[in-house]
Amino acid sequence: TWTTTNVVDEQVALIREQVGTKRAICGLSGGVDSAVAAALVQKAIGSQLTCVYVDHGLMRQGETEQVEKDFVAATGVQLKVVDAEERFLTALAGVSDPEQKRKIIGREFIRVFEQAQAEIVAEAGAEGEDVAFLVQGTLYPDVVESGGGSGTANIKSHHNVGGLPDDIEFQLIEPLRKLFKDEVRMVGQELGLPDEIVQRQPFPGPGLGIRIVGEVTRERLDLLRAADAIAREELTLAGLDREIWQCPVVLLADVRSVGVQGDGRTYGHPIVLRPVSSEDAMTADWTRMPYDVLAKISTRITNEVADVNRVVLDVTSKPPGTIEWE
Ligand code: XMP
Repeated sequence: TWTTTNVVDEQVALIREQVGTKRAICGLSGGVDSAVAAALVQKAIGSQLTCVYVDHGLMRQGETEQVEKDFVAATGVQLKVVDAEERFLTALAGVSDPEQKRKIIGREFIRVFEQAQAEIVAEAGAEGEDVAFLVQGTLYPDVVESGGGSGTANIKSHHNVGGLPDDIEFQLIEPLRKLFKDEVRMVGQELGLPDEIVQRQPFPGPGLGIRIVGEVTRERLDLLRAADAIAREELTLAGLDREIWQCPVVLLADVRSVGVQGDGRTYGHPIVLRPVSSEDAMTADWTRMPYDVLAKISTRITNEVADVNRVVLDVTSKPPGTIEWE
């Protein structure tokens, strides 16, 4: 029978057998999945695990600090933070195609993990360790939607599945591969993770890189970060964090429309709000959220974020739309 205790016990035994006395690293993204995967592996192999947080510059406001503080405080894991903003932005320069972006981000993640692994092994004085283990918080829906399930088309390459390069040298440890999000949350609770981590809304590993329709640049990221922070703040104030599964905020960087502000003409970008309700992200419906909250978010974003003169609401369910725009 399926219980979280069984899942934890079974995975802990499997991971111990797989890793033995070697070292493993775990990519932390700040999201629920990687946090639960990390906690599970830590339970199995303790200090043989080092978590690696890659700051790719595609994070939302405050995210890096939150991982550095909250996650370490909750779990006591060893954490290595890699500043890789320059590297990711350089690799993404000039790229607008969504799948290409996902592949590039997936590849750069692995290259950074490889470097981090080599450093960790060197620091531990364990030169020549032959197997490198990488823990990922891959869930069942990630596998299915990346085309890994039987008879399914590739909808999009999730950064930790279909977005991986072919020449990867890591052995993957994916203890959540058979689970859905709600089950992962239960496992996280079982492992004693606090609600702030376990109940977090999903956020994709490729971050804001797949929420800018068009090329990803530092200026556009800053703009989107500002708009996203306003939306999140107002949704939290309105008490909607639990009701809404997640609310991607998307910048249509290649679209401009005419507006008027003060007594002048503007020609700025639209921001899309995509609040959705869902059970497992395989299907979703757009959230019928209060108009006054939408109005507040719209007013604030257009007033406070330069170059944005329009806020639009995405009223598409999944299917036919996916949750993210890319
Ligand atoms: P879609 O857009 O496919 O998203 O309807 C379903 C859920 O998955 C998240 N998502 C990702 N998560 N890496 C992740 O860790 C990815 O590459 C990725 N792409 C989408 C998305 O935010 C939603 O919760």
